[in-house]
Amino acid sequence: MQSFALQTIFILALFSLSIAASGLKSLNPCSDDFLQMEAYKEMTRKVNTTKCRVLSTLGAQFAWNYLKTSQNQTQITVLIGTKLIPADIGWLAWGVNPDQPRMVGTRAIIAIKLPNLTMVNTYNITKDVKLGCKLQPSPALDFRVQNMAAGSHAGFFAVFATLILPDQQYNISSLNHVWQIGRSADGSEPNMHWTSLGNFDSKEVLDLRTGSCRNIGHHRQHLRKVHGILNIIGWGTLLPIGVIVARYFKQFPFKLDPCWFYFHYSCQVLGYTLGSIGWGIGLLLGHESKYYTFHRHRLIGICVFGFTTLQMLAFRFKPAREDEYRKHWNVYHHFLGYALLVMIPVNIYKGIKILKPDNRTWKWAYNGILVLLAMVVLALEIYTWAKFLCAKYYKKSNQGSNSRPGNGSRSEKGK
Ligand code: HEM
Ligand code: HEM
Ligand code: HEM
Repeated sequence: MQSFALQTIFILALFSLSIAASGLKSLNPCSDDFLQMEAYKEMTRKVNTTKCRVLSTLGAQFAWNYLKTSQNQTQITVLIGTKLIPADIGWLAWGVNPDQPRMVGTRAIIAIKLPNLTMVNTYNITKDVKLGCKLQPSPALDFRVQNMAAGSHAGFFAVFATLILPDQQYNISSLNHVWQIGRSADGSEPNMHWTSLGNFDSKEVLDLRTGSCRNIGHHRQHLRKVHGILNIIGWGTLLPIGVIVARYFKQFPFKLDPCWFYFHYSCQVLGYTLGSIGWGIGLLLGHESKYYTFHRHRLIGICVFGFTTLQMLAFRFKPAREDEYRKHWNVYHHFLGYALLVMIPVNIYKGIKILKPDNRTWKWAYNGILVLLAMVVLALEIYTWAKFLCAKYYKKSNQGSNSRPGNGSRSEKGK
């Protein structure tokens, strides 16, 4: 049984890693529509080393070139574009951060699109913005900005600008740059953006000379997949299967004693092991992403781990069948077990929601698992009641006596 468990863990870990590895992508060049923009053509006319690539989030595409203008200054020209939804209103921001690739401290250029008007301004994003203060234009940044413009082309909304960056604060071989989109603005004050992962991963450290980048979200994306797969298999599939076996195969309608116990025990131990590894990876990911937290997912996740750990204590502290405390233990073990069966899918759906907008496959995969489990439960429940009613009718007509084959008779026997 132990070697079977180890083999299964090994196969599942390989499966998770291979799915994660299949997500590795090379950097994408820009689309033809983007390259047809007048601003891009102008950039390439002036500097023939202009580079362009698709950024990792928000469907953004980014073109840039640079020129050394003096001993301690570099002029960089950038063009960033994405498709806003809805197309007629919203904002697009791009900025550089002298300290870290993060929102607070970013000096940004933000283009706001209103139904009849487009405006572009510079902004200094301080920590007050994160705390809820309005983001207002800051005409003076710690570098000069020229030729700011914004416009639409082939569904793209794009911002163009030239920045004169002091080399001391901004190293063009590792430039922290950040981009973002939002859905609404009050005049020149953009409102808060969405809080999905795409909006939080929209930052990287870019080498303007080679185009290579250290994408903060990239290695994390693979760990997130492993986290999701292990949690869905461990907590979301194996634990419910273990409960189904305890419920329907212990005494009634099927009596598979003591097989049901070994199966329940193995399923829960395997599910707990895989789920705990996934949970640990979740905590690691949460720890790494210091600038944001998914509070509810984290809280429910910690409760799931805590409660399953309590359930696993059955392994050591389960009273013997004849013990007077056994019936209290049964109530507690049943109650916590079924509470977990509610909490786990809630948290799995919360985790899947965090991955928005790339979460459709996850959602359908887990929907499929849930529907399958629900169908098995429904079939077994119908069979249980049919067998119970038949037995009752048979007994009544034969002896006139009455007994319900349910939890009462179940707990008399078995482990
Ligand atoms: C019952 C199952 C699950 C548990 C117990 C769980 C637990 C956790 C925990 C404790 C964190 C750390 C949160 C933080 O500190 O901010 C986390 C993060 C996360 N989880 Fe889950 N999780 C579960 C299922 C899922 C699923 C199914 C997915 C997606 C398919 C998912 C996606 C994520 C993502 C994307 C993060 C954030 C990673 C980051 O900050 O970069 N989780 N999870
Ligand atoms: C319009 C006003 C804005 C507000 C009110 C706002 C608010 C926030 C908040 C509250 C978070 C953290 C969420 C959490 O901790 O759970 C956040 C994260 C983030 N925001 Fe904004 N934001 C604004 C504009 C911007 C702009 C213009 C950019 C890009 C230039 C941006 C880029 C980011 C990034 C990359 C993150 C992820 C965390 C980090 O790396 O710092 N935000 N934002
Ligand atoms: C996360 C881990 C676990 C969960 C979620 C869980 C859940 C459950 C649930 C919901 C039931 C009731 C099924 C029913 O009759 O309707 C049950 C029964 C049972 N479980 Fe677990 N279980 C876990 C781990 C364990 C472990 C590790 C052991 C033993 C070492 C164990 C031993 C039992 C026994 C003996 C019963 C039958 C109780 C009775 O009715 O006499 N469980 N479990």
